Amino acid sequence: MKPVFIASIDSKEAQKISEIFTKEQKVAIIESSNRLRAILNASAMVILEHSFYAKYGLEYFKGLLKKPHPPVLMIAPPDNIQVMVDIMEIGIRFIPKVPDYQKLLRLIVNNTLSQVQEQEQLKQNVLSLQLRVEELEKAGSEQDDRQNGESDPETKPPEEKGNILDEIIFVFKRGEIELPTLPQFGIKFQEMMNKGANIREIGELLKQDMAISSKLISVSNSVYYRGVVENNNLSQAISRLGLKDTKRYVDAICNRSLYATKNKKFLKFLERLWEHSLACAYASQVLDESLALGLEIDAFTLGLLHDIGKLLLLQVIGDLQKSKKIGDNIESSELLHTISSYHGKFGAALLKKWKFPEDFVRVAAYHNNLKAADSISKDLLIVHFANLMVKSMGFRLKDQADIQQEEIDLEDTESARRLGLNAAMIDEFKQKVSGFMNEITGLFM
Ligand SMILES: [Fe+2]
Repeated sequence: MKPVFIASIDSKEAQKISEIFTKEQKVAIIESSNRLRAILNASAMVILEHSFYAKYGLEYFKGLLKKPHPPVLMIAPPDNIQVMVDIMEIGIRFIPKVPDYQKLLRLIVNNTLSQVQEQEQLKQNVLSLQLRVEELEKAGSEQDDRQNGESDPETKPPEEKGNILDEIIFVFKRGEIELPTLPQFGIKFQEMMNKGANIREIGELLKQDMAISSKLISVSNSVYYRGVVENNNLSQAISRLGLKDTKRYVDAICNRSLYATKNKKFLKFLERLWEHSLACAYASQVLDESLALGLEIDAFTLGLLHDIGKLLLLQVIGDLQKSKKIGDNIESSELLHTISSYHGKFGAALLKKWKFPEDFVRVAAYHNNLKAADSISKDLLIVHFANLMVKSMGFRLKDQADIQQEEIDLEDTESARRLGLNAAMIDEFKQKVSGFMNEITGLFM
């Protein structure tokens, strides 16, 4: 975090103000107008003590604040309305210097600093995505030359660069995009699993979240897991599910909350994407278990997150439309085409930002384009196949009417060949996934 500047020519007052900060927050006292001008943008915020304002005057601040600057907060004499009006007009906020004003100051400073930090974080996010977008623009022209020959019809390169993408890039560059944040609960759970926590300790963690606890209890009572007795508390539910499945469902429950949008027109796609992701998660798990591949990373979570780039793009486009930053008249087919062509790169960038292991990033990047991957690992093959299989079962974004001519011969896909799958095996996988989806989907609504 950048330091806070206290602009004051009264060193005693400056000292008093600096006492509201904790040791972790760097604070610097600035006594001259030239110095403040020179290093203004190196600060997170400026607290302006009124002695400094009285010495340099309104005109100095008018000039100073013409360019982009950090927030400025003045401790103003409580009886001078004109000063308050003057500074507010040029964008300086104030608090009146009443007895005990430090309490108010501390509160406002803390709020301001956390806003500054959020904005910094957002800028970083946008910058990292901007880099990916530049790569994408390059890749877009290379893609035209490449014949990828993939079986998945959604991965065909665009005939021409979509208008929506140009618009997304434009708003990305202006920093107007809010990115989803990773649900913290799943991270805490993973950390505890890594430390070798037992069922009781995991139970203590999960108890803190009512929504998660009650959903886990419902899942444990579903036909899939049901024992003789109905579970009605969390520890029974975790014992029946086991730690591995508990973690999977916690991931699913946490992720479910990400599939939201303020744009009602996009709700249909987000719901379908959620079902597709959940089906793909379970299909990946079934493949891993049936083929006894023993993947190091849980196949369920890999499948659950493989299309996170589609989620990001759908939300971004939905938000942009809602706020009228892009046009309203995007055809569904154009929308899905753009999302399908670019979601790999966006998803990989987002998972990287969330600090997911490299395997997750690779699966997000190449699950629909094996030929582009440097190396083809088993987890990539599994998600590649699971993705195609659940699409063929109808868990997909496109309307049924639009996919008639796009029937996929699952046995004849690259991943099926490499995994050694035959028609009977594929049928069995499909049946398992159907059963799971019929039983479980409703519990995640
Ligand atoms: Fe997918």
